[in-house]
Amino acid sequence: MATQFLILTLLIFCSTLTFTTAQDTDTGFVGSPDPKTLGLKKKKSFSHFRFYFHERFSGSNPTSVFVVPPVPKFNSTTSFGTVGVLDTTLTVGPEPTSKVVGRIEGLVAATSQRVFTLSVILNFVLTEGKYNGSTITLLGRNSIAQKIREIPVIGGTGLFRFATGYAETNTIFLDPKTTDTIEYNIYVSHY
Ligand SMILES: *[C@@H]1O[C@H](CO)[C@@H](O)[C@H](O)[C@H]1NC(C)=O
Ligand SMILES: *[C@@H]1O[C@H](CO)[C@@H](O)[C@H](O)[C@H]1NC(C)=O
Repeated sequence: MATQFLILTLLIFCSTLTFTTAQDTDTGFVGSPDPKTLGLKKKKSFSHFRFYFHERFSGSNPTSVFVVPPVPKFNSTTSFGTVGVLDTTLTVGPEPTSKVVGRIEGLVAATSQRVFTLSVILNFVLTEGKYNGSTITLLGRNSIAQKIREIPVIGGTGLFRFATGYAETNTIFLDPKTTDTIEYNIYVSHY
């Protein structure tokens, strides 16, 4: 009797775990949905986005702030241990007055004891046209000493679900005390 009750309970429980395919019965927690049911197209697109942003390090309205200052006992040329955050507008051109198409929000840390190098998490939050509300996420090493730095694209949301790719960034202008202008070319494969 108890065994029958248990089997019946299990049967009812399993039948509620339908997901979208029949392959779930092995484990109960994994299925193979048709990508179309998630609004994903059949083939991935490949896009090149170019954005610029401008940081203000000083004044009453900075875009980028140090949260943790450099740790004095380490070689100051590397700023090892420094942590900063930024939130500023993305524009289509290098001029701060050019059209705004989104924001960049990020967390950066100086993580090398040998050279000034950043580990970065950067979220490109787009607000323009069909991309409005979609985000592209970069995570990796920004080797500041190089003219062109490469950072992996590790994912995204909205139109950038399953995104993969890489970004190339270069500094167009820099005055470490006041402001900078940065260019990002993002090559991304996405649905
Ligand atoms: C700090 O690092 C720089 C660059 O690697 C090096 O040239 C310099 O000698 C170092 N200074 C000290 C005090 O270790
Ligand atoms: C983007 O979407 C938000 C929220 O839906 C909306 O308020 C905003 O006007 C949109 N921006 C553009 C440029 O379409």
